[in-house]
Amino acid sequence: MLSYQHAYHAGNPADLHKHLVLAELLTLLTRKARGISYLETHAGRGLYDLSAPESQKTGEAAEGINALNLPDCPLNTALQTTRQRFGEAAYAGSPLIAQTLLRAQDRLHLMELHPAEFGALRKALRNETTAVHKRDGYEGVRSLSPPKPRKGLVLIDPSYEIKTEYEQVPDFTHTLMAKWPEATVMIWYPILPARQHEDLIAGLKLKFLRHEVSFDLKNGEGMTGSGLVLVNAPYGAEKCLAEAVKLAHPILKA
Ligand SMILES: C[S@@+](CC[C@H](N)C(=O)[O-])C[C@H]1O[C@@H](n2cnc3c(N)ncnc32)[C@H](O)[C@@H]1O
Repeated sequence: MLSYQHAYHAGNPADLHKHLVLAELLTLLTRKARGISYLETHAGRGLYDLSAPESQKTGEAAEGINALNLPDCPLNTALQTTRQRFGEAAYAGSPLIAQTLLRAQDRLHLMELHPAEFGALRKALRNETTAVHKRDGYEGVRSLSPPKPRKGLVLIDPSYEIKTEYEQVPDFTHTLMAKWPEATVMIWYPILPARQHEDLIAGLKLKFLRHEVSFDLKNGEGMTGSGLVLVNAPYGAEKCLAEAVKLAHPILKA
């Protein structure tokens, strides 16, 4: 049963953290002409409307992207392009950020299981470089790995509705890296009072970079911060992480 819908949370401070780092990292990985593969286990709908009732109901974007005057940077380029294409209230999810920043020689494979989210994702994103799959993200990415081109990035961004995901994510990452050792993997996790993310971190038996930020959201009820893990981080990734905090100052606190 899938009940999580990212439309309620799009553009919040956790999205800012994840999307800023993603855009910086994709820019780093595409500095050379050779193509890359970009895969997502949990894509969501790709395109969000921040004036929609879901977004207005939580007001989370007002505490994230809409509270920030984002300077010139790769995420800003992707968001400006999105607004030009879809209107002023449009906000790009991770698949659309990637599609906007990637090139003709790059390939995207996006997994989404929720029927309505998948339908919206297909409508907004499917084209000659982007394949969208209505299938379990772990199974889908596992079976497509290693893809061509072999250099690339996998984003693992579950909703953590099912608590076993804090164990499933590291197990999946080990299997993935065994099949596709060249991959860079970026895992997002929420920082909640119960601190279940510590199980995810403890489960990872690979070398990784860890980056956490805190923020004010809904007066501290629920999520108090956001975390990212980078496995097989490319040279220059630490600068991308630091840059994200700088760009989102004062919303994200390192
Ligand atoms: C946090 S949202 C993704 C947000 C998106 N990555 C972004 O940053 O714009 C998680 C998504 O995963 C989907 N989902 C949940 N379980 C899944 C599974 N096993 N395989 C694929 N998608 C799944 C949900 O329907 C939801 O749309």
